[in-house]
Amino acid sequence: MTEVKVKDEGGDTLTMIDFGDFRSSLFGRTIEYIRDVNKHLNDFQFKDDDVLLCSYPKAGCTWTYEILTMLMKGKPEGPAESKMFSMIEATSADDINKIPSPRLLNTHLPYRRIPADINNKTVKIVFVVRNPKDVAVSLYSMLYAFKHYNYSGTFSNWLPLFLRGDLAYDRYLRYLKDWEDVLKANKHNMLVLYFEELKKDTLTGVRKLAEFLGVHHSDELLQEISDKCQFQHMKERYSKSMLGPSLYKPEVKYGFMRKGQVGNWKDWFTVAQSEEVDRMVSEEMKDSNFKFIYQL
Ligand code: A3P
Repeated sequence: MTEVKVKDEGGDTLTMIDFGDFRSSLFGRTIEYIRDVNKHLNDFQFKDDDVLLCSYPKAGCTWTYEILTMLMKGKPEGPAESKMFSMIEATSADDINKIPSPRLLNTHLPYRRIPADINNKTVKIVFVVRNPKDVAVSLYSMLYAFKHYNYSGTFSNWLPLFLRGDLAYDRYLRYLKDWEDVLKANKHNMLVLYFEELKKDTLTGVRKLAEFLGVHHSDELLQEISDKCQFQHMKERYSKSMLGPSLYKPEVKYGFMRKGQVGNWKDWFTVAQSEEVDRMVSEEMKDSNFKFIYQL
């Protein structure tokens, strides 16, 4: 495992970790720490009552994590700390094992890197999907903004890295296809949630998640959770505490809760870039039941 500097089309570089067949982010941790976590990853033991939130970076993981936290606590109160501390590829098993059950864990890992013990346990998996164009813009914006990526390239120079899968966590379409195979094989108890549907009707998404968890809360509480998880509320929470200003380059004016929209990609993609993604999607996802919603 080595640190690599991935070069974009303009010669700007991004730092990440290469495992040979897979690349990982540094998460602002040291390379030794991430190396150690990943070395022991396949020994990770799940618990039957774990909930595992799986999504590609920027697909809506933090939002869903917030809702799941509130549903599991039974009150409209978000997580006390960043979801990085329950992310199985970014935090040591020793620390994750200190989390009281039922645990809400999360990961961006492709299925082939999920610890094998998942097959022995009745873990509930929540899988979040977002359209690839908004994922690309959101991911680019985060990589550009965080100091620790040390990246200053343009979106146009960066996009080919995303489309080729030169960044952390596989190509997005491959990631989705692999997880969809798992879904189709019916191997696990799995719920698929769409970012765009959550945006259109958050309360229905909250209800779906509650039903999947098997928690019974009043309509008032579900409504309160839905309200507390609206973009503006989360933006205020995240600007003050988790993932706050110290992680960002001083000139960056947005935070982790950047736009929170469906269709922001239209302000970034050229027609040619958009058509390239459409072509890839129609070729590679022709057998997929996942739906990509590009605007509401
Ligand atoms: P944008 O960069 O497009 O704004 P993740 O948590 O998987 O990293 O995803 C982050 C993306 O989800 C960001 O997208 C962020 O703004 C968006 N997001 C987070 N909470 C949201 C909410 N309550 N409503 C809408 N979008 C939200």
